[in-house]
Amino acid sequence: MIYVVGIGPGDACYLTRRAEEVIQKAEILIGAERNIESIQGFKGEKIELRELSMLVKYLESNGHKNIAVLASGDPLIYGIGKYLASHIAHDKLEVVPGISAIQYLFSRIPLDMNDLYMTSSHGKFPDFDRVLSYPKVAMVTDQRIGPYEIATEIMKRNLSKIMIIGENLTYPDEKIAPYYPKAIKAEMQFKRNVVVILDEKQ
Ligand SMILES: C[S@@+](CC[C@H](N)C(=O)[O-])C[C@H]1O[C@@H](n2cnc3c(N)ncnc32)[C@H](O)[C@@H]1O
Repeated sequence: MIYVVGIGPGDACYLTRRAEEVIQKAEILIGAERNIESIQGFKGEKIELRELSMLVKYLESNGHKNIAVLASGDPLIYGIGKYLASHIAHDKLEVVPGISAIQYLFSRIPLDMNDLYMTSSHGKFPDFDRVLSYPKVAMVTDQRIGPYEIATEIMKRNLSKIMIIGENLTYPDEKIAPYYPKAIKAEMQFKRNVVVILDEKQ
């Protein structure tokens, strides 16, 4: 059986019991280096994930084993779950949900996630006209499009928004802070982050 296991935003205390169970009974763990390193005490084989098409081939020829593919946060929120669910037969695949970095950030603010629009800047330039038309947005970001670029798009449209930036969530150097877009300068450095964009009056 192939398990795609959400391991939460980082700190192992956010791993669910189901995720722990599946990881402990797995013969093979596959994932990004950071995700594999976060699992303590695993005795089986560990494989660092490099290329998605190779992964599918590997899973197809090893489907008789118990394999846990680790995903940060929740596998189906901008994670590897979407790709595997469209490439692996569903009777051979179990997705184990995890706590998303987005969900964690909302819990810390704290703010309900009702009517939240979730999006990502990974591998694409977001349609900011659409994204910024929503009153409550959460965006997972990458190196190209992050807080500064989002702030610039808000200011171009002269919108009254507040941004809440959650960096390195659940890690010892976690930082969560609100910003007006105009306060975000090009030279500011942000660690791995989720950006929540809210209409100012919320
Ligand atoms: C490919 S997405 C995966 C999202 C993940 N599936 C989830 O549900 O949290 C990776 C992005 O998620 C966000 N992210 C994941 N873990 C994070 C953390 N601990 N702190 C801040 N952002 C995080 C960052 O925007 C990062 O670039």
